[in-house]
Amino acid sequence: MPKTKDKFDCMAAKADKYVLYQRSVQEPGSEVKFFNKVFKKEFGRKPLTLREDFCGTFAICCEWVKSNKDRTALGVDLDPEPLAWGKANNLAPLKPKQQERVTLLEQDVRTSGEDKFDILSAQNFSFWIFKTRPALLEYLKHAYQNLNDEGLMVMDMMGGGECWVEDHTDIRKFKDFKYEWEQHKLDPITHDATFNIHFQFKDGSRLDRAFTYDWRFWSIPEVVELCKEAGFSQVDVYWEGVDDDGEGNGIYTAQEHASPDPCWIAYIVGIR
Ligand SMILES: C[S@@+](CC[C@H](N)C(=O)[O-])C[C@H]1O[C@@H](n2cnc3c(N)ncnc32)[C@H](O)[C@@H]1O
Repeated sequence: MPKTKDKFDCMAAKADKYVLYQRSVQEPGSEVKFFNKVFKKEFGRKPLTLREDFCGTFAICCEWVKSNKDRTALGVDLDPEPLAWGKANNLAPLKPKQQERVTLLEQDVRTSGEDKFDILSAQNFSFWIFKTRPALLEYLKHAYQNLNDEGLMVMDMMGGGECWVEDHTDIRKFKDFKYEWEQHKLDPITHDATFNIHFQFKDGSRLDRAFTYDWRFWSIPEVVELCKEAGFSQVDVYWEGVDDDGEGNGIYTAQEHASPDPCWIAYIVGIR
């Protein structure tokens, strides 16, 4: 078989990087459950309006409108490519009435609109794109402005010693591919951090650098302090509990202290 045909016939050439990404790193159902739990705890009712900043393919918006007929969602991202993919693959399969309750804006998240929301979510560490305190503060001030008086913002964070090993790659196996999270470059002075996502297929073909992120590695206390500076009246850190084997159990509760963990994910919740 000629080489060129091999190149176009391989699994990597036929793969859709957004499908692989969603299967590897997204759990929109768990996010919506978490938003419900935290909002109910704070305000004693069900949240109805969601703004998903850095929404990419806006999987959370779609899950949100599916979860309740009175719910509406706004997705904001400045890249037209994931938005278009999300329209074709996440929005189109929804019922027409659900589709009507999703609005999309192709713009910078550093904008405050007329509409205010119960929940503002910024997931998968996306706000790490802002590398300085003034830049992150500006974003958090907009986020604060975009919330209802009874409203809260949810951001996720990662950390732990293992996240600081340069050139380390975390591999997770799926039935038909492997997901690779590469900690490519880490600068302990500036906290500049470059991460890559690669996919490897059973036929040996690869999608290298399917996604690349050039971020600042923020710490929890820095982000908590900036949220308070931006106006949030209360900022809580939700830490994951452990099961009998000491493994994360997927249940996050507000905690003031935690024991070191080599690789953790936590939520920061800012209450307006
Ligand atoms: C890590 S992806 C996250 C996608 C999705 N939120 C998720 O949970 O998987 C980051 C997204 O943020 C978008 N983005 C980066 N900077 C932005 C900005 N200033 N305003 C709006 N979107 C931005 C990128 O286009 C990209 O889709």
